[in-house]
Amino acid sequence: MIRVSNLSKSYSMGNIEVNALKGIDLHIPKNQFIAIMGPSGSGKSTLMNILGCLDQPTKGNYLLSEQEVSTLNDDQLAAVRNRSIGFVFQTFNLQARRSALENVMLPLRFSNCSKKEARERAINMLMCVGLGDRFHHRPSEMSGGQRQRVAIARALINNPAIILADEPTGNLDSKTSDEIMQLFHQLHNEGQTVVVVTHEDDIAQHAQRVVILKDGLILEERMHAYSYC
Ligand SMILES: Nc1ncnc2c1ncn2[C@@H]1O[C@H](COP(=O)(O)OP(=O)(O)O)[C@@H](O)[C@H]1O
Ligand SMILES: [Mg+2]
Repeated sequence: MIRVSNLSKSYSMGNIEVNALKGIDLHIPKNQFIAIMGPSGSGKSTLMNILGCLDQPTKGNYLLSEQEVSTLNDDQLAAVRNRSIGFVFQTFNLQARRSALENVMLPLRFSNCSKKEARERAINMLMCVGLGDRFHHRPSEMSGGQRQRVAIARALINNPAIILADEPTGNLDSKTSDEIMQLFHQLHNEGQTVVVVTHEDDIAQHAQRVVILKDGLILEERMHAYSYC
């Protein structure tokens, strides 16, 4: 599903070069549930941005569903992103003036499905994440957990190859965080590949596999006995 090799990313800050990633090798098979951990500044978001085709590496290769994406131009990258990646962010990134249903339908505006079909798919997705009774609520009329469920429904609407979630529970209390992680379990059980970035051990415990970054490199990794269902 995902294979990166010798992935490096440098940022130029005036005269200073920041080496955010220094040669990452990582293979994420289909239907894996993986957590990426590490202290602040270790390169987690940089790696997620590259895996999510929001940014390109300075060096190295990235194969996504057998396509080399490290050499694509911006338009090609955007096409891969729309087709293959579902994003979930710490701050939900919903449009404040749109309802839950409209937010979930948004990614389909650029596909060739009809408005009626888009609506039906969005309704199904909202039911799937447990929001069957919140179609017409705006983000400000929902709790943090509900907002994140809307964001997850939106991430899923294009049937992406992979869900990338960067600190998805960072703005949620521990009970709500647990409910959101249960939802990721549900998706994983249904066959979804899920990558979650977190700096919290409790959250990473939910994943099958944990990769720990430090200073732009993989420091260690571990597999969990997987008992959740
Ligand atoms: N756009 C950028 N420009 C310059 N430096 C950056 C940029 N984004 C991240 N960095 C630097 O790269 C390193 C890794 O950052 P980041 O990937 O955000 O880490 P994390 O998500 O693990 O906290 C940090 O030293 C950070 O300051
Ligand atoms: Mg980060």
